[in-house]
Amino acid sequence: MRTPLVAGNWKMHKTPSEARVWFNEFLDELGPVPSEAEIAILPSFPLLPLAAEELAGSGVAFGAQDVSAHDWGAFTGEVSAYQVADLGAKYAIVGHSERRKYWREDSALVAEKAKRALEAGLVPILCVGEELEVRERGEAIPFVVNQLLDSLAGVEPGDPARLVIAYEPVWAIGTGKTATPGDAEVMAEAIRSALATRYGEGFAEGVRVLYGGSIKPENFAQILAGPNVDGGLVGGASLEVASFVALSRLAVGL
Ligand code: PGA
Repeated sequence: MRTPLVAGNWKMHKTPSEARVWFNEFLDELGPVPSEAEIAILPSFPLLPLAAEELAGSGVAFGAQDVSAHDWGAFTGEVSAYQVADLGAKYAIVGHSERRKYWREDSALVAEKAKRALEAGLVPILCVGEELEVRERGEAIPFVVNQLLDSLAGVEPGDPARLVIAYEPVWAIGTGKTATPGDAEVMAEAIRSALATRYGEGFAEGVRVLYGGSIKPENFAQILAGPNVDGGLVGGASLEVASFVALSRLAVGL
């Protein structure tokens, strides 16, 4: 019922020419895109037109790593969700922990970004996750649930297919450390039950909850085994064609 999603967050990597090579090699190596899972690439803004061109008709979706909290206007350096959507993008990450940390984006701003994404017709991939000291204090679940609900203030996707949540423990991102499959599942379940309280049981059952943080082909199958974990948001391992093909195949095996 929930189609697994594996989404590659390229962060600030790859030139347009490197991206073109990657898209071609990836589609060649992957072969026909399976219908049992969804694959998406989230490159930086200047690569989005290229993603639209290279992925057209392939069945692989693409999206942005962020969007502005504003729709249009005098906001130098910002990118509108409408601009992203017009290229044929499906997704936009909002609230990634790197944006929360380095640009001090708070959950109220993240909620505005999620609203703009939805208004433009994009599906927000809304990220939440705790710092290590929060986990060590035993407060990871209430922290993440609060962050989630604050980031969803006023956000009304209507249809569960129009919202994706990514649980990414901050201490697991780019560090080689991953949450145990058990911890990822426990958190995904807590997220789903918070969504049930917020939007109703039926809605919560349909929302995809991803795990993210040092996903690799070697650990992905175990993470995906959790019944509430519906895929992965992948950073480092999405940069190499071979590892992202392997992760895409594992998602199909769900
Ligand atoms: P990582 O990044 O896979 O390199 O840990 C994940 C993310 O930040 O989305």
